[in-house]
This record gives sequence, C-alpha cells and structure tokens, in this order.
Amino acid sequence: MTGTLKVGVIGLGFFGSRHARIHAEHLSAELVGVCDRDPVRAAELAATTGARAFTDFRELLALPELDAVSICLPDRLHEGAVVAAARAGKAILLEKPLAHDAATARRIVKAVETSGSRLMIGHILRFDPRYVQVFHAAAPERIGAPIHLRAKRNGVRSTARRLGDASSILFYMGVHDIDAMQWIARSRISRVYAQKVAMLGTGNEDALYAVVNFENGAIGSLDYSWAWPDGLMNGFRSALEVVGTRSATYLDCADQGFFTVEDSGTTGGDTHLWPEINGRIAGDLADELDHFINATLSGKPYLQHYREAFDAIPVLDALAESARSGLPAEVAR
Ligand SMILES: NC(=O)c1ccc[n+]([C@@H]2O[C@H](COP(=O)([O-])OP(=O)(O)OC[C@H]3O[C@@H](n4cnc5c(N)ncnc54)[C@H](O)[C@@H]3O)[C@@H](O)[C@H]2O)c1
Repeated sequence: MTGTLKVGVIGLGFFGSRHARIHAEHLSAELVGVCDRDPVRAAELAATTGARAFTDFRELLALPELDAVSICLPDRLHEGAVVAAARAGKAILLEKPLAHDAATARRIVKAVETSGSRLMIGHILRFDPRYVQVFHAAAPERIGAPIHLRAKRNGVRSTARRLGDASSILFYMGVHDIDAMQWIARSRISRVYAQKVAMLGTGNEDALYAVVNFENGAIGSLDYSWAWPDGLMNGFRSALEVVGTRSATYLDCADQGFFTVEDSGTTGGDTHLWPEINGRIAGDLADELDHFINATLSGKPYLQHYREAFDAIPVLDALAESARSGLPAEVAR
C-alpha cells in the first residue's frame, strides 16, 4: 500500500472522537468516514473533520476506497464491528481490550486470521515513553530476574458512572497494566487472587485489588480504583515498579509535572496522553495512530502482535472469577 491511508472511525465517544481528529490531522491519512449510532454525534464529527457521517458501521465498511478503521466501541461491543471489518478486508486498529472475555477474543482472532486482515490493539502504554523506558530498564541483562512487580491505576468515580455497565474496572483500566506487566516481566501471569468492593453505587466496581503469580516465579500486586473524587489531579494516578535480582525500576505518575495554581486551588494538565499542542493532538495516542498508519502503509509489522495483546484477556477472566468466588483462580491458557 502506498500514498495516503484512507481511514474510518467507528464509535465517536470519548476516545473515538480523538482517533478521528488524529487521523484527520495526519499527513499520511485521510479520514473518509465516521460512524456512531448517535446521528448527532456522527454529523458533528463529520462537520469538523470533513469526513462522511454514518450510523451503521456496515455502510462505512462498504466504502470501496476505505483501507483501515479505528474501532472505538464500548468494550463489550467490539466483536461485531471487528469481524465485519476483517471480512471487508480492512486493516483494523481496535481499542483495548481486544475483547471483554477470552471466548470472544478467540472468535475475533479467528475471524482476523481467516480473512487475512491486519489487526493492531490500542495498547497505548507501548507508546508511552515512561512505560517504554521501564520495559528497557527491566531487560534481563540489567534487572536480572524480576522478583516482584506492583501496578496501580486509579481513576475518578464520574468515569465509572459515565460508563455504567458498558465497561468494568478490568476492561477499561486493568487491561493496561496486565499487558504492561506481562510485557515488562517478559512472562505471563499464571494465577490470581482478587477482591473487589462496590459502595458508591456508580454501576461499577469501586476498587479491585489482586495478588498475581507469574510463570517465571515473580509475584505481583494490582491496585485498581474508580472511587477517587472528581477533584483528583488529571483524573487518574498510575504507578509501576519492578524489583529484580540485580536492579529495580519504577514509575510514579501521580501527576504529569504541569500545574496551574489559582485561588480556588491547583489543577494539572495532560502532558503525555493526548494533549493538544500547537493546534493538533500530540502525545502517546498520536504516536500510536502514527505507528498504525505508517506500518499499515508500509506493510511492516505492528509494534505488538495481536496474539500478545490476546494474552491479557484470560487474566481478566481469572481476576473476575477470583473476585466473584473469593478464591484464587488459575489463568486458562
Ligand atoms: N487506550 C486508552 O487509554 C483508552 C481510553 C479511553 C477509552 N478506551 C477504549 O475505547 C473504547 C471506547 O471507549 P469510550 O470511553 O470512547 O466510550 P464511549 O461510551 O465514550 O463511546 C462509545 C461510542 O460508541 C457509540 N456506539 C455504541 N454502539 C455503537 C454501534 N453499534 N455502532 C456505532 N456506534 C456505537 C456510542 O454512541 C458512543 O458514542 C473502549 O474500548 C475503551 O476501553 C481506551
């Protein structure tokens, strides 16, 4: 494939609207269509980007000129659109998680492999300079063998309310760290023991904590929360640490290093994820889409194979099962 990648976006909510803008702003992409079941949302995005508006993704996928799609539908609704896009022969950038359970993820992978289409999963931490540096610092020749890992991802309660039962703390937040920990530990999680709590009545879990075992003998802990009041700086905090036999490495993303101080208090701002800089969306998400566009055009492999992204999904299943039963759960591979 040469020249300009002709792209569509399916699902134009919080994240799909950002995908649409980044594709529209990219010099090697042309946003030809946007789709949301909400016609007003689709028409608004079409008006600001110059793309055609659709309310049915099948009509968008039928455009003969379309090369690729970003799929940004709610977590439980990925399968129908991915399978249709694969059958239509389009390259697919699918937002994480690959699917909300392993059985669905397997069907998606089968459809993609049967069609021969290309698939990349939007694991944005693979494009975050902070997490990529932890990955390199945790190379076996530097860290030795990992002994213990700790991951934290905490967000605000209004996100849990906004998503309701369309998502879960594991699909929306947890999968980021499961993928990152398995990537950074160079080992898969084999067993989990989780507990969760729901007191706020948001329609979602408030928090889930877990202890996990890796195939290489390391242990890990997960700290996920959707219970923080909305005043939390930037709406989230994350951290990751790895202690090995020779050295250790850690990230503390309690803030993004940028503050505005007014009489009413101190607020932060996005300096990493998808900040608007000089009139364009920059940061990790723009780098992720840039990689998708360039690798699709050139035919080069995507940074992460979808089979590696798949490896996070059985861990989500095991965490949900353990939190439900109150017992440790093996990860079914
Ligand atoms: N990588 C990240 O950091 C990150 C951040 C946020 C969201 N996400 C992922 O992006 C995806 C979308 O999340 P979101 O927060 O944008 O959700 P959202 O609820 O804000 O948006 C979903 C959109 O899909 C539309 N929709 C639902 N069913 C549809 C259908 N059948 N056809 C067309 N449109 C339909 C809805 O109208 C809505 O506009 C999720 O998979 C989520 O996990 C990733």
